[in-house]
Amino acid sequence: MRLSTQKDYGKPIRLHDAEHFEHMRIAGRIAADTLDHIAPYVRPGITTAELDRICEAFMRAAGSIPATIDYHGYKHASCISVNHVVTHGVPSETKVLKAGDIVNIDVTPKIEGNWHGDTSRTFMVGEVSILAARLVDVAYKAMMAGVALVKPGTTLGDIGAEIDSVIRAARFSSVRDFCGHGVGQIFHDTPQVVHQGKRGTGIVLEPGMFFTIEPMVNAGGYQVKVLGDKWTTVTKDHSLSAQFEHTVGVTEDGVEIFTLSAKERAERQ
Ligand code: MF3
Ligand code: CO
Ligand code: CO
Repeated sequence: MRLSTQKDYGKPIRLHDAEHFEHMRIAGRIAADTLDHIAPYVRPGITTAELDRICEAFMRAAGSIPATIDYHGYKHASCISVNHVVTHGVPSETKVLKAGDIVNIDVTPKIEGNWHGDTSRTFMVGEVSILAARLVDVAYKAMMAGVALVKPGTTLGDIGAEIDSVIRAARFSSVRDFCGHGVGQIFHDTPQVVHQGKRGTGIVLEPGMFFTIEPMVNAGGYQVKVLGDKWTTVTKDHSLSAQFEHTVGVTEDGVEIFTLSAKERAERQ
Protein backbone atom coordinates (compact mmCIF):
# COMPACT_ATOMS: atom_id res chain seq x y z
CA MET A 1 0.00 0.00 0.00
CA ARG A 2 1.48 3.35 -1.00
CA LEU A 3 1.04 6.36 1.24
CA SER A 4 0.90 9.99 0.25
CA THR A 5 3.56 12.28 1.71
CA GLN A 6 0.62 14.49 2.74
CA LYS A 7 -0.93 13.84 6.13
CA ASP A 8 -4.30 14.75 7.58
CA TYR A 9 -4.22 15.51 11.30
CA GLY A 10 -0.86 13.69 11.40
CA LYS A 11 -2.17 10.54 9.78
CA PRO A 12 -1.07 9.39 6.31
CA ILE A 13 -3.46 9.18 3.36
CA ARG A 14 -3.54 5.95 1.38
CA LEU A 15 -2.90 5.88 -2.39
CA HIS A 16 -4.62 2.95 -4.03
CA ASP A 17 -3.58 1.04 -7.16
CA ALA A 18 -5.51 -0.26 -10.17
CA GLU A 19 -6.44 -3.51 -8.43
CA HIS A 20 -7.97 -1.58 -5.53
CA PHE A 21 -10.11 0.39 -8.01
CA GLU A 22 -11.47 -2.97 -9.22
CA HIS A 23 -12.56 -3.93 -5.68
CA MET A 24 -14.17 -0.54 -5.11
CA ARG A 25 -16.11 -0.84 -8.37
CA ILE A 26 -17.68 -4.03 -7.02
CA ALA A 27 -18.41 -2.68 -3.52
CA GLY A 28 -19.68 0.63 -4.91
CA ARG A 29 -21.95 -1.11 -7.38
CA ILE A 30 -23.56 -3.23 -4.65
CA ALA A 31 -24.11 -0.08 -2.56
CA ALA A 32 -25.75 1.75 -5.48
CA ASP A 33 -27.80 -1.31 -6.44
CA THR A 34 -29.05 -1.55 -2.83
CA LEU A 35 -30.47 1.98 -3.08
CA ASP A 36 -31.90 1.30 -6.55
CA HIS A 37 -33.56 -1.79 -5.04
CA ILE A 38 -35.01 0.01 -2.01
CA ALA A 39 -36.33 3.01 -3.97
CA PRO A 40 -39.75 1.55 -4.91
CA TYR A 41 -40.36 0.46 -1.28
CA VAL A 42 -39.98 4.02 0.04
CA ARG A 43 -43.73 4.66 0.22
CA PRO A 44 -46.33 5.77 2.77
CA GLY A 45 -47.06 3.07 5.38
CA ILE A 46 -43.71 1.28 5.45
CA THR A 47 -41.58 1.39 8.61
CA THR A 48 -37.90 2.31 8.57
CA ALA A 49 -37.15 -1.06 10.23
CA GLU A 50 -38.75 -2.84 7.27
CA LEU A 51 -36.71 -0.74 4.81
CA ASP A 52 -33.58 -1.69 6.79
CA ARG A 53 -34.42 -5.40 6.57
CA ILE A 54 -34.89 -5.15 2.80
CA CYS A 55 -31.54 -3.36 2.44
CA GLU A 56 -29.82 -5.98 4.60
CA ALA A 57 -31.26 -8.90 2.64
CA PHE A 58 -30.20 -7.30 -0.63
CA MET A 59 -26.64 -6.58 0.52
CA ARG A 60 -26.20 -10.13 1.84
CA ALA A 61 -27.69 -11.73 -1.30
CA ALA A 62 -25.18 -9.70 -3.33
CA GLY A 63 -22.34 -11.28 -1.34
CA SER A 64 -21.58 -8.34 0.94
CA ILE A 65 -21.94 -7.56 4.64
CA PRO A 66 -23.51 -4.34 5.97
CA ALA A 67 -20.47 -2.62 7.49
CA THR A 68 -22.60 -0.58 9.89
CA ILE A 69 -23.65 -3.68 11.89
CA ASP A 70 -21.54 -3.72 15.08
CA TYR A 71 -19.73 -0.58 13.91
CA HIS A 72 -19.05 1.29 17.18
CA GLY A 73 -22.09 -0.47 18.62
CA TYR A 74 -24.48 0.40 15.78
CA LYS A 75 -26.88 -2.50 15.17
CA HIS A 76 -28.49 -1.91 11.77
CA ALA A 77 -27.71 -2.43 8.09
CA SER A 78 -28.56 1.15 7.17
CA CYS A 79 -29.11 4.61 8.59
CA ILE A 80 -32.54 6.02 7.76
CA SER A 81 -32.99 9.71 8.46
CA VAL A 82 -36.46 11.22 8.04
CA ASN A 83 -37.24 14.96 7.68
CA HIS A 84 -35.41 16.91 10.44
CA VAL A 85 -33.12 13.94 11.13
CA VAL A 86 -29.80 14.95 9.59
CA THR A 87 -27.90 11.68 9.72
CA HIS A 88 -27.53 8.33 11.55
CA GLY A 89 -31.28 7.84 11.88
CA VAL A 90 -31.82 4.46 13.57
CA PRO A 91 -34.31 2.16 11.80
CA SER A 92 -37.39 1.66 13.96
CA GLU A 93 -40.50 -0.56 13.97
CA THR A 94 -42.56 2.46 15.03
CA LYS A 95 -41.34 5.00 12.46
CA VAL A 96 -43.92 4.81 9.67
CA LEU A 97 -43.35 6.84 6.51
CA LYS A 98 -46.08 9.20 5.33
CA ALA A 99 -46.61 11.21 2.16
CA GLY A 100 -44.61 14.42 2.25
CA ASP A 101 -41.62 12.93 4.12
CA ILE A 102 -38.06 13.14 2.84
CA VAL A 103 -35.98 10.10 3.75
CA ASN A 104 -32.24 9.59 3.51
CA ILE A 105 -31.09 5.98 3.30
CA ASP A 106 -27.36 5.39 3.79
CA VAL A 107 -25.78 1.99 3.17
CA THR A 108 -22.22 0.68 3.30
CA PRO A 109 -21.81 -2.89 2.07
CA LYS A 110 -18.34 -4.38 2.47
CA ILE A 111 -17.10 -7.18 0.27
CA GLU A 112 -14.32 -9.75 0.57
CA GLY A 113 -11.07 -8.00 1.43
CA ASN A 114 -13.07 -5.45 3.46
CA TRP A 115 -13.62 -3.04 0.58
CA HIS A 116 -16.43 -0.59 1.48
CA GLY A 117 -18.91 1.13 -0.84
CA ASP A 118 -20.62 4.00 1.00
CA THR A 119 -23.58 5.83 -0.53
CA SER A 120 -26.79 7.58 0.41
CA ARG A 121 -29.70 9.29 -1.29
CA THR A 122 -32.67 11.27 -0.04
CA PHE A 123 -35.98 9.95 -1.35
CA MET A 124 -39.27 11.86 -1.46
CA VAL A 125 -42.37 10.03 -0.19
CA GLY A 126 -45.38 10.82 -2.37
CA GLU A 127 -45.93 14.50 -2.95
CA VAL A 128 -43.60 16.70 -0.87
CA SER A 129 -43.59 20.46 -0.21
CA ILE A 130 -41.88 22.81 -2.65
CA LEU A 131 -39.33 23.56 0.07
CA ALA A 132 -38.57 19.87 0.67
CA ALA A 133 -38.19 19.18 -3.05
CA ARG A 134 -35.85 22.15 -3.45
CA LEU A 135 -33.78 21.04 -0.45
CA VAL A 136 -33.35 17.56 -1.91
CA ASP A 137 -32.40 19.02 -5.29
CA VAL A 138 -29.84 21.37 -3.74
CA ALA A 139 -28.30 18.56 -1.65
CA TYR A 140 -27.81 16.44 -4.79
CA LYS A 141 -26.39 19.36 -6.76
CA ALA A 142 -24.04 20.31 -3.91
CA MET A 143 -22.65 16.77 -3.77
CA MET A 144 -22.25 16.58 -7.55
CA ALA A 145 -20.60 20.02 -7.68
CA GLY A 146 -17.99 18.67 -5.26
CA VAL A 147 -17.57 15.42 -7.19
CA ALA A 148 -17.12 17.36 -10.45
CA LEU A 149 -13.99 19.07 -9.05
CA VAL A 150 -12.26 15.81 -8.13
CA LYS A 151 -9.01 15.45 -10.05
CA PRO A 152 -5.30 15.56 -9.21
CA GLY A 153 -4.30 19.04 -8.05
CA THR A 154 -7.73 20.08 -6.69
CA THR A 155 -7.66 20.71 -2.94
CA LEU A 156 -10.18 19.54 -0.38
CA GLY A 157 -10.65 23.26 0.39
CA ASP A 158 -11.74 23.80 -3.23
CA ILE A 159 -14.31 21.02 -2.87
CA GLY A 160 -15.66 22.20 0.49
CA ALA A 161 -15.91 25.81 -0.71
CA GLU A 162 -17.77 24.79 -3.85
CA ILE A 163 -20.26 22.63 -1.95
CA ASP A 164 -20.88 25.36 0.60
CA SER A 165 -21.35 28.00 -2.12
CA VAL A 166 -24.03 25.90 -3.87
CA ILE A 167 -25.82 25.49 -0.53
CA ARG A 168 -25.53 29.16 0.46
CA ALA A 169 -26.74 30.33 -2.96
CA ALA A 170 -29.96 28.43 -2.24
CA ARG A 171 -30.19 30.09 1.23
CA PHE A 172 -29.69 26.75 2.97
CA SER A 173 -26.87 25.74 5.32
CA SER A 174 -24.13 23.11 5.22
CA VAL A 175 -23.78 20.94 8.34
CA ARG A 176 -20.36 21.33 10.00
CA ASP A 177 -20.31 18.59 12.62
CA PHE A 178 -20.11 15.67 10.14
CA CYS A 179 -18.01 15.25 7.04
CA GLY A 180 -16.98 12.90 4.25
CA HIS A 181 -14.04 10.60 4.79
CA GLY A 182 -11.39 8.44 3.24
CA VAL A 183 -12.76 4.96 2.51
CA GLY A 184 -11.44 1.67 1.19
CA GLN A 185 -10.51 -1.27 3.42
CA ILE A 186 -11.20 1.07 6.35
CA PHE A 187 -14.76 2.44 6.65
CA HIS A 188 -13.80 5.88 7.97
CA ASP A 189 -10.22 6.67 6.97
CA THR A 190 -8.18 9.82 6.39
CA PRO A 191 -8.68 12.39 4.99
CA GLN A 192 -11.64 14.25 6.47
CA VAL A 193 -13.68 15.75 3.64
CA VAL A 194 -15.48 18.76 5.09
CA HIS A 195 -18.29 20.44 3.20
CA GLN A 196 -17.07 24.00 3.75
CA GLY A 197 -13.65 25.49 3.15
CA LYS A 198 -11.32 27.95 1.58
CA ARG A 199 -10.23 27.48 -2.03
CA GLY A 200 -6.59 26.56 -2.50
CA THR A 201 -6.19 25.17 1.02
CA GLY A 202 -6.04 21.69 2.50
CA ILE A 203 -5.00 18.32 1.12
CA VAL A 204 -4.06 18.32 -2.58
CA LEU A 205 -5.74 15.42 -4.37
CA GLU A 206 -3.48 12.73 -5.83
CA PRO A 207 -4.33 9.74 -8.05
CA GLY A 208 -5.38 6.76 -5.94
CA MET A 209 -7.09 8.63 -3.11
CA PHE A 210 -10.54 7.19 -2.24
CA PHE A 211 -13.06 9.20 -0.24
CA THR A 212 -16.73 10.07 0.17
CA ILE A 213 -18.47 13.36 -0.49
CA GLU A 214 -21.66 13.53 1.57
CA PRO A 215 -22.99 17.03 2.29
CA MET A 216 -25.87 17.38 4.73
CA VAL A 217 -28.01 20.40 3.88
CA ASN A 218 -30.35 22.04 6.39
CA ALA A 219 -33.26 24.26 5.41
CA GLY A 220 -32.57 26.35 8.53
CA GLY A 221 -29.38 26.74 10.57
CA TYR A 222 -26.37 24.42 10.31
CA GLN A 223 -26.49 23.49 14.00
CA VAL A 224 -27.33 19.89 14.91
CA LYS A 225 -27.77 17.86 18.07
CA VAL A 226 -27.31 14.17 18.80
CA LEU A 227 -30.21 12.54 20.63
CA GLY A 228 -30.03 10.31 23.72
CA ASP A 229 -29.58 7.14 21.64
CA LYS A 230 -26.10 8.57 20.76
CA TRP A 231 -26.81 8.18 17.00
CA THR A 232 -29.88 10.03 15.77
CA THR A 233 -28.75 13.51 14.78
CA VAL A 234 -31.36 16.21 14.23
CA THR A 235 -31.38 19.86 13.23
CA LYS A 236 -31.32 22.06 16.31
CA ASP A 237 -34.11 24.25 14.89
CA HIS A 238 -36.09 21.21 13.67
CA SER A 239 -35.80 22.38 10.06
CA LEU A 240 -35.69 19.77 7.28
CA SER A 241 -32.36 18.21 6.25
CA ALA A 242 -31.29 16.33 3.11
CA GLN A 243 -28.11 14.45 2.14
CA PHE A 244 -26.53 12.57 -0.73
CA GLU A 245 -23.29 10.59 -0.67
CA HIS A 246 -21.01 9.12 -3.30
CA THR A 247 -17.77 7.17 -2.90
CA VAL A 248 -15.16 8.33 -5.42
CA GLY A 249 -11.60 7.59 -6.50
CA VAL A 250 -9.11 10.10 -7.89
CA THR A 251 -7.86 8.91 -11.30
CA GLU A 252 -4.84 10.16 -13.31
CA ASP A 253 -6.99 12.85 -14.91
CA GLY A 254 -10.25 13.10 -12.99
CA VAL A 255 -12.70 11.10 -10.94
CA GLU A 256 -14.31 7.67 -10.91
CA ILE A 257 -17.61 7.53 -9.05
CA PHE A 258 -17.93 4.03 -7.60
CA THR A 259 -21.53 4.39 -6.39
CA LEU A 260 -23.42 5.64 -9.46
CA SER A 261 -27.07 4.59 -9.62
CA ALA A 262 -28.40 2.88 -12.75
CA LYS A 263 -30.07 6.19 -13.66
CA GLU A 264 -26.85 8.16 -13.22
CA ARG A 265 -24.94 5.59 -15.26
CA ALA A 266 -27.49 5.90 -18.08
CA GLU A 267 -27.27 9.70 -17.98
CA ARG A 268 -23.48 9.54 -18.24
CA GLN A 269 -23.50 7.35 -21.37
N1 MF3 B 1 -22.57 5.49 6.27
C1 MF3 B 1 -22.32 6.54 7.24
C2 MF3 B 1 -21.33 7.46 6.61
O1 MF3 B 1 -21.57 7.95 5.62
C3 MF3 B 1 -21.79 6.04 8.52
C4 MF3 B 1 -22.75 5.28 9.29
S1 MF3 B 1 -21.97 4.67 10.66
C5 MF3 B 1 -23.24 4.02 11.54
O2 MF3 B 1 -20.23 7.68 6.97
F1 MF3 B 1 -22.69 3.35 12.48
F2 MF3 B 1 -24.00 4.99 11.97
F3 MF3 B 1 -23.97 3.24 10.78
CO1 CO C 1 -19.71 8.07 4.51
CO1 CO D 1 -22.72 6.69 4.29
